[in-house]
Amino acid sequence: MKPQLQSFINFLSHSPTPFQALSNITERLSQAQFTALEEAEPWDLKKGGKYFVTRGGGSIIAWVQGEEKKLRLVGAHTDSPGLKLKPHPDQNKEGLHGLRVEIYGSPLLYTWFDRELSLAGRVDFLTPQGHEQLQLDFAQPLAMIPSLAIHLNREANQGWAIQAQNEMVPLFQGLKAGETSDFRAFILKEVQKTVPSASEIFDFDLFFYPFQAPGFAGLNQEFLLGYRLDNLLSCYAGLQALVESKPKATSILVLNDHEEVGSNSYTGAGGLFLKQVLERITGGSEALTQALPGSLLISCDNAHAVHPNYADKHDPNHGPKLNQGPVIKSNANQRYATHAGSAAQVAYMAKQAQVPLQRFVIRSDQSCGSTLGPITSTLIGLSTVDLGVASLAMHSSRETVGSEDLHHLIRLLTYFYNLKN
Ligand code: CO
Repeated sequence: MKPQLQSFINFLSHSPTPFQALSNITERLSQAQFTALEEAEPWDLKKGGKYFVTRGGGSIIAWVQGEEKKLRLVGAHTDSPGLKLKPHPDQNKEGLHGLRVEIYGSPLLYTWFDRELSLAGRVDFLTPQGHEQLQLDFAQPLAMIPSLAIHLNREANQGWAIQAQNEMVPLFQGLKAGETSDFRAFILKEVQKTVPSASEIFDFDLFFYPFQAPGFAGLNQEFLLGYRLDNLLSCYAGLQALVESKPKATSILVLNDHEEVGSNSYTGAGGLFLKQVLERITGGSEALTQALPGSLLISCDNAHAVHPNYADKHDPNHGPKLNQGPVIKSNANQRYATHAGSAAQVAYMAKQAQVPLQRFVIRSDQSCGSTLGPITSTLIGLSTVDLGVASLAMHSSRETVGSEDLHHLIRLLTYFYNLKN
């Protein structure tokens, strides 16, 4: 296995929520001599300097301060669809302690049944010093959502409409007769293992995640399976490219939280985080406006590979395949921001870098999903191409990509950052 792929699997395994992903990303950037900046402080940026700044624990912008005016950006998102705990999650019922969740984004709900689930995120609590926050990742199987036996649901294989409020309640604990349990007390105890003076839980952003580690399938290990391949694969590829490149132009990696819920938040791509940072990188609003012509954003998010069992879901000429290179996504109705000029720029780079490319356009009788590209492109006024690796089972709790495609994407993005003009 290529060391890059092993390193990505390690990153994926230890990034169950955007918060853990960000910790791993900032650690990697720090190792590569990137300096952490604070939004609240003045910045003294030097040409050739390497910097990063985070917002809200789930979004980050990292860059190399270039000698040229133009900007080269790669974007991706740190969040994935899943199950987020409600503030008061307890359901004590039939001798079992369940935890109520909200559905975050659009997961394929049936893929969450009958799997060992763990729990990760961050917790806010009271200490004698005031309010503190801690990241938690239990990294052990803690809960599961058992499906209903076919004997009690004879129609299960004919179609099963999942009622999220009642059916998506992971079971967390067996109770003795008459016993009830309190999740907040459990979390407080867990926090006290690290911060003994913690005395009260204020709130938490905790998500269930499938405990099973990423793995390979296929006779030649051509399939890579795991949770959050959408879109940690793109995050990792962008990070690797930025760290390994020696750019002349200002080269920027922007990773946003909240893409799966529409990007409208103070940390999301619909907010002002990128614009505000770009103004500081370029020297202000006027300088940014002047830098935009000639600049390009490669917005990376996974694409739908054609599924042989459902091949007619794709346009016959635009069905991407696993392991055949990154996919340029375009849409006449601007659900993707790609235009002929930006597609051509990437096609030229791919040719030079010897990376195969594919195209995706939705069937004419269907509307397609959207992503970060059009949002960022609109807010900043930035020419953009939407691109990503082909994947199957997008938004499953165990998605599939081709095990060769990470390498193709890193190669393309590194070439982009290293462009001489
Ligand atoms: Co995505």
